[in-house]
Amino acid sequence: MPTPFIPSRAWWKEATIYQIYPISFFDSNGDGIGDLNGIHAKLDYLKDLGVDILWLSPIYRSPLADMGYDISDYRDIDPRYGTLADWDNLLSGVHERGMKLMMDLVVNHTSDEHQWFLDSRSSKSDPKRDWYIWRPPRYDNDGNRQPPNNWRSVFQGSAWEYDEKTEEYYLHLYVSKQPDLNWENADVRDAVWDLMRFWIDRGCDGFRMDVINLLSKVEGLPDVPITVPDEVYQPASIYFANGPKIHEYVKEMNKKVLSKYDLITVGETPFTHKASELDGYVLPSNNELNMVFHFELMDVDSPEEGQYRSPLKQKDWTLAEFREIVVRWQNYKREEGFWNSVFIENHDHARAVTRFGDDSEEWRAKSAKMLAILEISQSGTLYIYQGLELGLRNFPRTWGIEEYKDIATQNYYEKKELLIDGEAVDMSDILDDLQRKARDQARVPMQWDSSAHAGFTSGEPWMRVNGDYQTWNLAAQLKDNNSIHSFWKHALKLRKAHEVLIYGDFSDISNNHEQVFAYIRTLENSSALVVLNFKKTDLTFSLDSKSDWTGFRLILGSYGDDERDEIKVSSNDIRLRGFEGRVYIR
Ligand code: GLC
Ligand code: CA
Repeated sequence: MPTPFIPSRAWWKEATIYQIYPISFFDSNGDGIGDLNGIHAKLDYLKDLGVDILWLSPIYRSPLADMGYDISDYRDIDPRYGTLADWDNLLSGVHERGMKLMMDLVVNHTSDEHQWFLDSRSSKSDPKRDWYIWRPPRYDNDGNRQPPNNWRSVFQGSAWEYDEKTEEYYLHLYVSKQPDLNWENADVRDAVWDLMRFWIDRGCDGFRMDVINLLSKVEGLPDVPITVPDEVYQPASIYFANGPKIHEYVKEMNKKVLSKYDLITVGETPFTHKASELDGYVLPSNNELNMVFHFELMDVDSPEEGQYRSPLKQKDWTLAEFREIVVRWQNYKREEGFWNSVFIENHDHARAVTRFGDDSEEWRAKSAKMLAILEISQSGTLYIYQGLELGLRNFPRTWGIEEYKDIATQNYYEKKELLIDGEAVDMSDILDDLQRKARDQARVPMQWDSSAHAGFTSGEPWMRVNGDYQTWNLAAQLKDNNSIHSFWKHALKLRKAHEVLIYGDFSDISNNHEQVFAYIRTLENSSALVVLNFKKTDLTFSLDSKSDWTGFRLILGSYGDDERDEIKVSSNDIRLRGFEGRVYIR
């Protein structure tokens, strides 16, 4: 028999990370905006839940054109969130409790209000001119000024904005208030290494790196082949995702900064479904990052549009597709040290219980617990987005477009209104899609208790609170041993107690079942058997009769009422009720 593979251990592999979206977490001073002191006030809660590391979405100075992913000063806190002193205080609170703090590093682009960009746009001869990507216009046959190429911005029309003053265009892969930095310029890279050291020296424990795979654009910035014939501007990720010099840049970052410290690093790597295009960032032999976020699973319910998936449009998904993605990544190059990040929600995606479970009153808690089992029983570093531990769901279809605050949502809505495609556009369809898929769904305030605005603020919240908070909130769930919150807390402890859940091999035993995802995890002498029912109907799942299943003990069941604690030797059948999930250990 071949020796079973045992991955190397690391603190950041075993950690449970909790992602905080600061503006919607907790408001300490009644201005309707969550803040650093608000996070500080909830540290005991997070510690008690079993969290090891907090990741904060950006809290730097920003005009909030893209909710802080547009930074105007990397070395200061936006006054809406607090001060550098508040950050220091938060960090001490985190460290005192034995937790760690990760910052969001957003360096593909800055805000157009960053001093670097103000200088860059001031004149063609400014020393910072080349810090951004400037190009002269093109002219069409009628002599009309056109952008330098046909690339489409991820969030709006052309990826280029014309600047009257110097009569050139600058590139912005996201909105025009987010100009892309020119990573070809070594001074830009040095400036980034410096700002990373600024936060490391202040005590931060690692970074989540925003769209890190977009830093290197293809040479010459050519027109991209047309894949969406009705449109002028074309999806262009083949020319800007995982570009020619990307590994040069990330290796340089590792060499000059990361390698000098013991940090946790995770790169966000959208527009990439192939593991072979992402393993370069992750494989230890490459000396780049600890892990990445791939979005293949998050795209399972998004239709293809050109080379993109259209994230705000919904398509039906099947368990077969879902399972295939999970299984493939769980097994990918384990023996070479590829390490996964496990997540099912973040600030860019709608709520998991709505997308992958069933958020009706009858099934909400059950399916949220089943999804919790899916998360805690995969190999990789585990990420929980705020509110996942309460089974928060999307807000209702009755909310109008005015409740959606995200610029990506607003631009999408506007554009569809204008899209003349030979057919009248049905706006009510768009709201159906947004109700399921918009990023806003994950950005409403956290539901702390049943008081006004869910206890999030004593003032007027910046975004409307989901109407179900009176019954669905943390305070209520803390009192209930059977709540989703209690379940997560218990499940996180079990994950820590059973290393096989973190480090074990992953082997799919679902046998193409239409509604069951079942797998075995193995680490040395220990095994875990996980069975998950993804639908409402009861069923009997039959394990392979040639294997020996004796000795497996139930350690976690989503119904919480199990007496059948061993798989009977006499039968290899497991009865599963609607959305039931179970974990057995041997
Ligand atoms: C990342 C962020 C997202 C942001 C985008 C542009 O995808 O997660 O929120 O809009 O980058 O910075
Ligand atoms: Ca506040």
